[in-house]
Amino acid sequence: PDTLKVALLGCGNVGSQVARILLRDADSLAARTGARLELIGIAVRDLELARDPAIPAALFTDDARALVRSADLVIELLGGIEPARELIRSALEHGASVVSGNKALLAAEGPALYELADATGVQLSYEAAVAGAIPILRPIRDSLAGDKITRVLGIVNGTTNYILDQMDSTGADFESALAEAQRLGYAEADPTADVDGHDAAAKAAILASLSFHTRFALENVHCEGIRTISAADIEAARASGLVIKLLAIAEKVELDGAGQAGVNVRVHPTLLPREHPLASVRGAFNAVFVEAEYAGELMFYGQGAGGLATASAVLGDLVSAARRIVLGGPGRTETTKGSVPALGIDAVQTSY
Ligand code: HSE
Repeated sequence: PDTLKVALLGCGNVGSQVARILLRDADSLAARTGARLELIGIAVRDLELARDPAIPAALFTDDARALVRSADLVIELLGGIEPARELIRSALEHGASVVSGNKALLAAEGPALYELADATGVQLSYEAAVAGAIPILRPIRDSLAGDKITRVLGIVNGTTNYILDQMDSTGADFESALAEAQRLGYAEADPTADVDGHDAAAKAAILASLSFHTRFALENVHCEGIRTISAADIEAARASGLVIKLLAIAEKVELDGAGQAGVNVRVHPTLLPREHPLASVRGAFNAVFVEAEYAGELMFYGQGAGGLATASAVLGDLVSAARRIVLGGPGRTETTKGSVPALGIDAVQTSY
């Protein structure tokens, strides 16, 4: 196909950036993909709400079902369980590939949706659901597929890392640090999901499922948030050379002393030595520290929240899914030879 039709569901912080990039970078995305990615519509709940002036008003619709039926690729950024679940199922059933950033839905319903995607032979990808811009799911699923992961430690919620970091470095109080995280666009619509650890727990379930090839749902994740952390706790940690971080932890554990292994998945405030690589993760940044039998220690670091950064992960999944459609396989991995004006590059250096 020369053109692939893209439907966008949701136009919040991340969705509006995805739409802007699809419109602005249409030529370079087409050059990378091998087909034009035509944004055919953006489904929103309320057409009356003010929209981004950079996006043509004609693209907006409140009929998400009809939009999904006309698309080759569906980007779901609605959040929450319904109607996201029904719309994703409908997309997969009619053969559209789906890119989602919906951690709550994937933590709750992921396995059923992956099975449906496998049955219909399309892609369901969700890199944006965990740790924003950081490429972490594909490395765990693909790059480490021949290894054995033993432990994953992650700072996977930018809002709580921002709050703890502000409390630690500036002595800010909890409420004002939270208000600032909201103003910067990191927090969920209902920030209790951040503060009480539920957002991190959903991401922990997704990370654990991919890392340990087992299905973890939200209810398998023990979860404690940061609401009870006081300035005095932070000061006491500091005095002992420690820092408090909200960690998502998934690790292989021995169950009975007889070699039987299990996996423990949990989210809770954790005291880390200030020398630990995760201790230096400041502000709303995220990082995931992976321990694997053969690879040893790996750390993935970057922006875990924010519209533009998270849009990067959405678009990466979109281009990858589109390449599969265009080429009927995993896509072009070679750099393009010769001149690539659409990418803003005049010549490609082929040897060093
Ligand atoms: N509220 C989330 C965070 C957004 O603070 O990390 C990214 O999932």
